[in-house]
Amino acid sequence: MARIIGGVTSSHIPAVGNAIANNQTQEPYWKRFFDGYKPAQAWLREKKPDVAIVVYNDHGLNFFLDKIPTFALGCADVYHNADEGWALNPVAPFKGDAQFSWHLAESLVNQEFDVCTCQDMKVDHGFVNPIRALYGTHEVWPVTTIPLAVNTVQHPVPTALRCYKLGQALRRAIESYPEDLGVVVFGTGGLSHQLQGERAGLIDVEFDLDCMDKIANDPQWMTRFSNAEIMRRAGTEGIETIMWLVMRGALQSNVKVIHKHYHAPISNTGAGVLVLENYS
Ligand code: DHB
Ligand code: FE
Repeated sequence: MARIIGGVTSSHIPAVGNAIANNQTQEPYWKRFFDGYKPAQAWLREKKPDVAIVVYNDHGLNFFLDKIPTFALGCADVYHNADEGWALNPVAPFKGDAQFSWHLAESLVNQEFDVCTCQDMKVDHGFVNPIRALYGTHEVWPVTTIPLAVNTVQHPVPTALRCYKLGQALRRAIESYPEDLGVVVFGTGGLSHQLQGERAGLIDVEFDLDCMDKIANDPQWMTRFSNAEIMRRAGTEGIETIMWLVMRGALQSNVKVIHKHYHAPISNTGAGVLVLENYS
């Protein structure tokens, strides 16, 4: 059967892709941020998951404001990257697993999560940059990926509680797949940031650190916040952090915290890396 090894969180800020492409990761501005990924990279090298389910939000590349599903699952054998406006050079295509995706879709729909199924899905910086930060850049990526897009862009956005429950359904979906696959779930985006309006530049370090601690040890805490409360504390784009709850819901209630790293600001964002491991 497929088994969930653990979960990893990562910010997806576009500038990360350019810092990697331009070999700037050890420059003073970036060094501490990228060094925070090293234990996560080592954990992935050791655990060698076969499949990464990447919970991310699209920023106007595959979906636009005219049509935006609340939850969308990639059901393809390949996913192409393109840049939706950050001057990021596209990276090599990602290998998918359509058969596994269709199993996940069927299980999720049977559990009343009616996901949009996408047999053709372009992936943007929200998907690509966490993978690059965690694995480096490759012509042939070392892991098969399945994109799971959550709308965090066009309101109404799903609640934190709904995202947590999606994760719990995802766990049942993964663990009912008969193939012997090691699976990791990436919760991407966040933490606090606001890119526009009067509060542009907002970062709340205290809230970010609380979110990191609680998502690891007491995820129910975050499910009690309304989206308005999360945005008040974390900024309008800080709402992306609800995607971490999809990852967390897919794990056991008690997990091993392998690694935790926070850095702010990087670009306009408070950035957190968490590595959580299921007990075997
Ligand atoms: C930044 C962060 C994001 O989540 C995003 O989608 C775009 C930009 C930033 O911090 O610059
Ligand atoms: Fe974003």
